[in-house]
Amino acid sequence: MKARKAVMPVAGFGTRFLPATRAVPKVLFPVLDTPPIHYAAREAVQAGIKRVVFVVSQRQEAVTGYFSRFSELEAALERASKSEMLHQMLAIPGMADFSCVLQREQRGLGHAILSARPQVGDEPFAVFLPDDLILTSQPVIGRMIDLAAEKGASVIAVRQVPDEMVPSLGIVDAERVEGHTYAVNRLVEKPALEDAPSNLAIIGRYVLTPQIFDELDVTDSGAGGEIQITDAIASLLRTQPVYAYEFPGVHFDVGTPLGLLKASIHAALQREDTAPALRAWLDAIDDVHEPAHPD
Ligand code: G1P
Repeated sequence: MKARKAVMPVAGFGTRFLPATRAVPKVLFPVLDTPPIHYAAREAVQAGIKRVVFVVSQRQEAVTGYFSRFSELEAALERASKSEMLHQMLAIPGMADFSCVLQREQRGLGHAILSARPQVGDEPFAVFLPDDLILTSQPVIGRMIDLAAEKGASVIAVRQVPDEMVPSLGIVDAERVEGHTYAVNRLVEKPALEDAPSNLAIIGRYVLTPQIFDELDVTDSGAGGEIQITDAIASLLRTQPVYAYEFPGVHFDVGTPLGLLKASIHAALQREDTAPALRAWLDAIDDVHEPAHPD
């Protein structure tokens, strides 16, 4: 069976973005003009996902608000004859069936995913970490959903990363079975570099069998004192195979200010309305000196 539902955990405090995240969830910060949560929803919908469940914390109404109708704006765009923009705005709430569950305590990514169990039920499902922005011509999650259905197993997205990133990610020990597909032997969350089995890191896309919920139910706190999805997948491996998909394309970690800035620049350089002016500014940037402040 193919996954038709997606879980998007967005409940974190976004401490790497303070002070901005005091008021606005980081998944709503714009990559040029489009928030990461919109990119994730678009990738899901392109892959045939019909239902998206956000796992939110208190004070995050803005995330579901983004996907609801905005009648005053629609009326204003209509009055101004901005029909193309109106069409785009109406399409957002219509992308999928959006709902949310409240994660009352911040007990980690595994705990957040477990909170969505009633909405997912007994079927395979996709998980998106919207901080991981992946730009490809074909949605990565679509390939993973197909692979998971073909193998009847869970599939995680992976990518080779440099040594300095290893201690901040989930790392897998895996062997290539064909093309970009690997069979996973072992997973470890945020290992010290000397303990890491490889440089193949988990990036925020998963297609999981529903048995993961039983594993999460009994998973103790792991790295950082949190309930980790990586540990639950490691337990799942005892009863089911797990595959990894090494995805092509461009990836940005938009969960950090620098990553968000890089993604915004990348997006602006792809667009006709912004690329020429940005290029000209970047070319001249060495010439820009801070004006002296008169005392
Ligand atoms: C989470 C996962 C980790 C994965 C990473 C990808 O970590 O626990 O295995 O490599 O996302 O972004 P976090 O970034 O939430 O600490």
